[in-house]
Amino acid sequence: MQAKPISKQRKKIIPKAIGRVLEIGIGSGLNFKYYNQSKVSEVFAVEPDSILLNKAKINAQKNNISLNIQNISAEKLPFEDNMFDTIISTYTMCSISNLSMALTEIKRVIKSNGKLIFSEHGKAPDGNIYRWQKRLNPIQKRIAGGCQLDVNIPIVIENSGFELSELNSMYIPGPKFLSYHYWGSASLENKND
Ligand SMILES: C[S@@+](CC[C@H](N)C(=O)[O-])C[C@H]1O[C@@H](n2cnc3c(N)ncnc32)[C@H](O)[C@@H]1O
Repeated sequence: MQAKPISKQRKKIIPKAIGRVLEIGIGSGLNFKYYNQSKVSEVFAVEPDSILLNKAKINAQKNNISLNIQNISAEKLPFEDNMFDTIISTYTMCSISNLSMALTEIKRVIKSNGKLIFSEHGKAPDGNIYRWQKRLNPIQKRIAGGCQLDVNIPIVIENSGFELSELNSMYIPGPKFLSYHYWGSASLENKND
């Protein structure tokens, strides 16, 4: 998660976060150093792993960020409707066991003009790599906290009701079964606050 190509991905999307921000599955808080703090007013996060949560708290302090973090999963968010200007998901969608439930919650708590910004690894476009992703899924799930290699990120986001306002994809350096990346932003055209 700290490898250079992944840091490069973080740098592409995190400075776009504005206003009241929610990070889902924040992990140890590796995105903090890429925030444009002059544009961010508040930072909320959810993280089900308490060891990572404590690391995120320490990282927030190091980066001078006042963090409101809760030790919970993204499938049920304890926030009011229409609360967030930006919701960030980096390398989390592969691990959430009920992703469609989490995206429904994200839709509920994001403002009508809010943005979901993401960088995720997922389904590779090449048939042979995709077949390897499916073969390796059971091992990856066991050794990497439930991580699924072949999530079709844009389809999952669109099927949840979001419209993709920006979508990029490519292999970043690394093993191909793990390195096909999707990043960009999505919003809700038809949501009323
Ligand atoms: C690969 S890590 C990515 C962490 C962080 N977002 C980053 O970019 O470094 C996946 C994260 O998803 C979290 N996670 C797993 N299941 C989750 C769920 N149901 N809801 C929210 N986060 C979850 C894990 O605890 C872990 O922190």
